[in-house]
Amino acid sequence: MDTILQCPVCGNALHKAEHALVCSSRHSFDIAKEGYVNLLMSGKPGDQKGDNKEMARSRRDFLNKGFYSPLAKAVSGCIGSLTRKGDNVLDICCGEGYYTEFAAKSHEREYYGFDISKNMVRLAAKRHCGASFFVANIASIPVKSESVALAFHLFAPFREDEFARVLKPGGTLVTAIPGKHHLYGLKEVLYPEPYYNDEKPPQADGMKLHDQIRVRAEINLSSSRDINALFQMTPYYYHTPTEGMKRLEQREALSTDIEFVLLMYQKS
Ligand SMILES: C[S@@+](CC[C@H](N)C(=O)[O-])C[C@H]1O[C@@H](n2cnc3c(N)ncnc32)[C@H](O)[C@@H]1O
Ligand SMILES: [Zn+2]
Repeated sequence: MDTILQCPVCGNALHKAEHALVCSSRHSFDIAKEGYVNLLMSGKPGDQKGDNKEMARSRRDFLNKGFYSPLAKAVSGCIGSLTRKGDNVLDICCGEGYYTEFAAKSHEREYYGFDISKNMVRLAAKRHCGASFFVANIASIPVKSESVALAFHLFAPFREDEFARVLKPGGTLVTAIPGKHHLYGLKEVLYPEPYYNDEKPPQADGMKLHDQIRVRAEINLSSSRDINALFQMTPYYYHTPTEGMKRLEQREALSTDIEFVLLMYQKS
């Protein structure tokens, strides 16, 4: 069976065999029991730097409760309006696969998702949503050039050269930036002088920003578990002074705005 995946060793197309993906030069990549494939060539999966297993599960459990469903609906809406059945859709740095599964349940497409973290990809594959998940580095995405109709990219490193390469001419990159009020309620607890976010669209050579959608909602968290899960998902987790962390630990409820600007770039 054909896929859009290419061999990370020689660049030839990968075909699906019984328990592996193989190329014509006989490089072979086992399909793990959960159904994902490790196509990461250089270095080890990025689990030592990023989220550990427990953080990956905590992220999954938080997202599964639907707190970020307004964003998932908006991304899925873009897929519905900008692609057709049979098109390839790629979730770049898919994490534990929440957004891929949400979209796959709404629109029948050929979904692919990758992340450098094996812990994340394993959880994504366990969703069994029909998508093909693989471990890979965004610096060298093992996907054929000009094979993807729409790629979405949420809260991860930005590599416009690779995004532009994998997209078909006229294809769309959907990416999100935090909106002005995003998580302001959380920042009010963490910092004596919270600030609003700047909304800066990333530069994307070879692609043109042609549309944007604002997503804003209030979320109400009613357990310290959910509050901590949200906190761990944010960059503030790594930069907050101890006093702010202590204030947050004492909270058993938290209401905050979430706000995103979904940007659509078109490849010319
Ligand atoms: C903040 S998480 C976002 C995950 C997912 N898009 C979501 O919104 O739930 C960032 C993700 O980027 C992944 N990541 C970081 N550097 C990467 C790289 N060089 N290549 C592929 N994935 C990477 C991390 O492993 C992590 O899962
Ligand atoms: Zn090969």
